[in-house]
Amino acid sequence: MSVVSELARGGAGEPAGESLAHHWMPFTANRDFKADPRLFSRAEGIWFEDQHGRRVMDGCSTLFTTPAGHGRRKIADAVHAQLLELDYASSFGRGHEKSFTLARRLAGLLPEGIDRVFFVNSGSEAVDTAMKICLAYHAARREPQRRMFVSRERAYHGVNMGGVSLSGMVRNRLGFVPIPGVVHMRHTWQAEARFTRGVPEHGAELADDLQRMVENYGAESIAACFVEPIAGSTGVLVPPRGYLERLREICTRHAILLVFDEVITGFGRTGKAFGAASFGVLPDVITMAKALTNGVQPMGAVAVKREVHDTIMAAAPEGATEFFHGYTFSAHPAACAAALAALDIYEEEHLFERAAQMSAYFLDAVHGLRDLPVVTDIRGYGMLAGIDVVPAGGPGVRGNEAQKRLFDAGLHVKTTGDALILAPAFTFAGGDVDHMTAILREVLGTYR
Ligand SMILES: Cc1ncc(COP(=O)(O)O)c(C=O)c1O
Repeated sequence: MSVVSELARGGAGEPAGESLAHHWMPFTANRDFKADPRLFSRAEGIWFEDQHGRRVMDGCSTLFTTPAGHGRRKIADAVHAQLLELDYASSFGRGHEKSFTLARRLAGLLPEGIDRVFFVNSGSEAVDTAMKICLAYHAARREPQRRMFVSRERAYHGVNMGGVSLSGMVRNRLGFVPIPGVVHMRHTWQAEARFTRGVPEHGAELADDLQRMVENYGAESIAACFVEPIAGSTGVLVPPRGYLERLREICTRHAILLVFDEVITGFGRTGKAFGAASFGVLPDVITMAKALTNGVQPMGAVAVKREVHDTIMAAAPEGATEFFHGYTFSAHPAACAAALAALDIYEEEHLFERAAQMSAYFLDAVHGLRDLPVVTDIRGYGMLAGIDVVPAGGPGVRGNEAQKRLFDAGLHVKTTGDALILAPAFTFAGGDVDHMTAILREVLGTYR
């Protein structure tokens, strides 16, 4: 019996669950989980093994992190070699070669002109760093009064204080004293667009909420507008046709920075390297994390237009630090090595192109579940889809239960509230998609 299954049973003399008590788990119903734990013990390709040795298909690239699948030897070897060569080096006033190589590689993948990269350790850090970059930019332009941020209902931008303030998920914000000066546009879910496969045709005018913010607060007060190109964590809300373009126009007209939070949509999820390319809209700033290392090492980054970077540089005296921000582990050598190896895999195996090719099959299969009585909406784009189910017993209760039952039936998915979120690895074949939707049909088919 493995250590993991020993733990889940409770150690010698401990009641089941007691040995799990010390780890306070993030975004988890801790008591519920520990009473009936579902643990991963191994992973290979698109499959996990749980603590009982059962195979569970990874239907969500775990947490949108592993589009190349699990157990990629090339990344593990790169991290191992890096740790033996240079295990840690600070990037405060020092540096190491791989961070510069990685920043150059990313510049080659990013939309043209967005080619200056600041490294962090997570998506939340990327978002808070991006907010500070926006403030620093306007201060450098001698408009320091631009301190407001426009976000959106149903947005998820991580859990640090900046991201919590931007959050459009009320439970994530409530009780945490958000920073002042953040206002929220309406979300883009529309009842009329239910079961749209891809981009909804109508709703671009929802972007005019940004114009209303300008009229209410004055453009000269607003630093930036943050949006996920596709709102991922709240159930995959695909932007209506023309919506992101309209946000871009309003931002440009009023010198407001447009930030795309691509922590989920980055690295091929939409069929191109970034959502910005898929939707043909150029933001000023892009945040990324998760798949940057195929989930193997914690790492995030903020990429900015050269003009944003150069303005901040030029405002500081020669020889002085230009931006008073950074993390001990920014550009950690092992994370850089993992990211470089992940980018190699994405390129060598043409995984972004593969995501684009697989998307139609995947979306057709997921939309094939619309006849199930419990399903009230299905949305999707690229290799990302959301399925809403009828709530029962309070918001999120059925979603949580469905997620557990799917796991027991052999499928890992993420749920937020009563939305199930699918984000398979780009290595999924048609038969894998069929297997995934068969489990979904079997489990969701039991609900009325
Ligand atoms: C759009 C977006 N931004 C930020 C984050 C936060 O990332 P992390 O959990 O790595 O801090 C997430 C996480 O899901 C996300 O989806």
